[in-house]
Amino acid sequence: MTTIRIVGTGSCLPKQVVTNDDLAKIMDTSDEWISSRTGIRERHLVINETTAEMSAEAAEQALLEAGMKAEELDLIILGTVSGDHVTPSTACEVQSKIGAVNAVAFDINAACSGFMFAMNTAYAYIQSGIYQNALIIGAETLSKIMDWTDRSTCVLFGDGAGAAVVKADETGLIRFVQNSDGAKGMVLACQNRLNNNPLVENSKDLHYVDMDGQEVYKFAVSTVPASINQVLEEAGLAVSDIKYFLLHQANMRIIQSVAKRLKADPDKFPTTLEHYANTSAASVPILLDEVNKKGMLQKGDKLVLAGFGGGLTWSAAVLEW
Ligand code: COA
Repeated sequence: MTTIRIVGTGSCLPKQVVTNDDLAKIMDTSDEWISSRTGIRERHLVINETTAEMSAEAAEQALLEAGMKAEELDLIILGTVSGDHVTPSTACEVQSKIGAVNAVAFDINAACSGFMFAMNTAYAYIQSGIYQNALIIGAETLSKIMDWTDRSTCVLFGDGAGAAVVKADETGLIRFVQNSDGAKGMVLACQNRLNNNPLVENSKDLHYVDMDGQEVYKFAVSTVPASINQVLEEAGLAVSDIKYFLLHQANMRIIQSVAKRLKADPDKFPTTLEHYANTSAASVPILLDEVNKKGMLQKGDKLVLAGFGGGLTWSAAVLEW
């Protein structure tokens, strides 16, 4: 049966690095507090870069590795909660920047699961024969939707973009699971712009990310191992069959807890969060690109990708490289 194979990856981080010590100069925090609770030591934050520019750079790298021209792309799906415009979508901006004149392009909002949902959607289109290939992207400039007076949340996030090109093939994505639980959505929320029509009186400014960190932590450490176990079971594979688990990079303690619950070797969980923090939809494709560019993947390796976050949403996939 037709599935999708990843044939190219790419990533882009903004130039400016901001360390925990840099943050401690502008707010009441410390490297010790942040790194001991999260593993994060620094993050990249945009100054002039945009979500679309970083996405286009990541996309060009992925196309280069895939040996494809942008005009050959059928589909562009981009996961983000921090696009540059409400409309056009960031995917349409990327289409224009890279010259993917024959593609259809749209964004997906599944927060930190955005890249996973983009991949699963691309699978559905390609598996059904509607399209033959897709560019899938996760990209964020979260720094513009952070409340920089809320030290419990703003220190956790960073900006960046990651991309992959997928093509119809006989092997590749083996199985995925995806879920959402809207009833718990407000534990990680960001209000859109407030209605300022003449009939509405606004009282509270909620334009920034508002998170109940402990609730999100509990959600992650229970749903992520459960969804990985489910996808492995449905694929007829064991934890020991998997070379790497590429998890959404939110918190080192979450990743360690998932490894423990799966009874998996922690060395099978490569990380980038020390340097990039939580880049939401971008974290899984940035990590995948780093692992790929370091030459850590051989044809036939089995990988698990997993994302979780706002919505609430979560997804796990097992694939053959
Ligand atoms: N620097 C210093 N102190 C801070 C701080 C910071 N950046 N942020 C919060 N604090 C303080 C709080 O004010 C509080 O102080 P108090 O006890 O005097 O009231 C205390 O630290 C809270 O610490 P603690 O309860 O130990 O926090 P925690 O162990 O729950 O860790 C998180 C907080 C946010 C790191 C943790 O809950 C977490 O990682 N949650 C998951 C968040 C996440 O990954 N979200 C994205 C998912 S996609």
